[in-house]
Amino acid sequence: MDRLQPRAFVIGDPIAHSRSPLIHRHWLKEFKIEGTYQPIAVSAEKLPGFIAEIKSGKAGFVGGNITIPHKEAVLHLADHSDDITRAIGSGNTLWMEDGRLCATNTDAYGFCANLDAEATGWDRGRKAVVLGAGGASRAVLHALEQRGFAQIILVNRTLERAASLAPQFKGVEPAPMEALQSALRGADLFVNTSSLGMGGGTVPDLDFSVMTPEGLVTDIVYVPLRTPFLDQAERQGRPTVDGLGMLLHQAVPGFEKWFGRRPEVTPALRQTILADL
Ligand code: ATR
Repeated sequence: MDRLQPRAFVIGDPIAHSRSPLIHRHWLKEFKIEGTYQPIAVSAEKLPGFIAEIKSGKAGFVGGNITIPHKEAVLHLADHSDDITRAIGSGNTLWMEDGRLCATNTDAYGFCANLDAEATGWDRGRKAVVLGAGGASRAVLHALEQRGFAQIILVNRTLERAASLAPQFKGVEPAPMEALQSALRGADLFVNTSSLGMGGGTVPDLDFSVMTPEGLVTDIVYVPLRTPFLDQAERQGRPTVDGLGMLLHQAVPGFEKWFGRRPEVTPALRQTILADL
């Protein structure tokens, strides 16, 4: 029998909004790999059946991405979840290895790789302020813990949510929204992981000058690319890094697992995605 073409997927519900197909198809073309990357809408009821189909090996699936609302479900559906997946509490990347379905979460990697590429030395800081306590925040907190930030102030509209997340990571203190401006004093890094500013909505006015002189402002929201937080920070002369790079970098480990080549995040790839935003 002919070897099946390697097939990768992104599953979620809904799935039409996903930009992952654009990223992976860009790399498939670049490497001239005869493989596919398909968005597939899979409801919660159909998820166990789809997982069984991957594991059967019959459809030629080498793995794929998993997104909302299934990111937490992989923890019990995969045969193996790594430490990162368990620490973050969700997975976004699946692959078959020795007949087993394995899961990882590449968001923390993507967050760090983006800042490593755009703001060398960003991780020499001590104090960080993270806004938002949802799923994306967990990946950022894990990344900052790994990179040795000693003090992380976790600010969230719903204080209880920050308070229950904080003890799961080292050095994290919860704080209410009203404390955001004062938390910035002496901070080396500010990260917005909340949906504030997404689609251009308004955000609180902040004075970033109270951060350390090199203090960096970044946002994991990337629509618009220049979010209201980044816009304010730039107008105040702050270094900023936008969130599109995190999306692109988090895709790298998956592509390498499925297709055996390690792709690069290039200006051409960024342009391809920007044209679609
Ligand atoms: P994700 O998985 O993308 O992190 P999420 O789990 O829905 O998404 O979390 C969204 C985050 O944005 C939360 O921190 C949320 O605050 P609450 O925990 O109080 O809901 C935050 N958020 C959303 N809209 C907000 C708003 N208008 N003002 C402040 N925070 C907001």
